[in-house]
Amino acid sequence: MQQSWIGGGMRFSYCTEHDLPDISRMLSKESVCRWLFFEPNTDEATRSYFLPLIGEMWAALAEGRMPDHHVFTARLEDAGDFVGQCALLPVDFNPGSFLIGYQLDDIYWKRGYGTLACTFLVYFAFIVLEGYRLNGDTVAGNTASRRVMERCGFVLEGTQRRYWHAGGGYHDRLIFGLLKSDLALERLSRLGETFTAEHSVAV
Ligand SMILES: CC(C)(COP(=O)(O)OP(=O)(O)OC[C@H]1O[C@@H](n2cnc3c(N)ncnc32)[C@H](O)[C@@H]1OP(=O)(O)O)[C@@H](O)C(=O)NCCC(=O)NCCS
Repeated sequence: MQQSWIGGGMRFSYCTEHDLPDISRMLSKESVCRWLFFEPNTDEATRSYFLPLIGEMWAALAEGRMPDHHVFTARLEDAGDFVGQCALLPVDFNPGSFLIGYQLDDIYWKRGYGTLACTFLVYFAFIVLEGYRLNGDTVAGNTASRRVMERCGFVLEGTQRRYWHAGGGYHDRLIFGLLKSDLALERLSRLGETFTAEHSVAV
């Protein structure tokens, strides 16, 4: 099975345990967690969330199966510096439909990398996994996340009012969706040209 993909100057690889210190450092930042509502994360909380996902993914990859979860680490292609992570998670009882997620370290914000990470998820879901639908959500105040999804073609499908109670206030939840059939064939084929699978190494 392929384990990493390159595109736009970034390498997206299935997350391993070795990535956890970088992910943990990123999620310990108040700036990154501002709209995630789980406070700056502890190292322990990060490990207990990611380790089962990593276990499932690498067991599947070792057996030559497609994993159920797809959690990627994003690093600069040349230098290998950690930029962030992005993920596609399955939606129960809905084959071909995935929930998207992305978090980048704040030193890399506003350079187009968030859009690149989401574009990679669109590529991976629709071209590699042959899915039909992507689901995203964000807090109404998270303009950057909203713009990332809009730039990738997602449309606002609804608002859940005062959905989250966090930080002493209520926050609306914006629900976004993207269907593969929303994308013109030309755009899909451009996606296919943007990202290239790297040769896999033995697991
Ligand atoms: C959301 C996130 C991934 C965006 O990453 P990014 O690399 O800065 O995004 P891009 O550079 O691709 O910018 C995408 C758009 O967001 C806008 N944007 C970026 N940061 C912004 C900010 N702080 N405030 C307002 N708009 C912002 C950009 O201007 C651009 O909009 P445009 O097309 O109108 O010019 C990043 O801010 C992040 O990791 N945040 C913390 C975790 C998080 O909130 N994840 C999403 C949970 S739903």
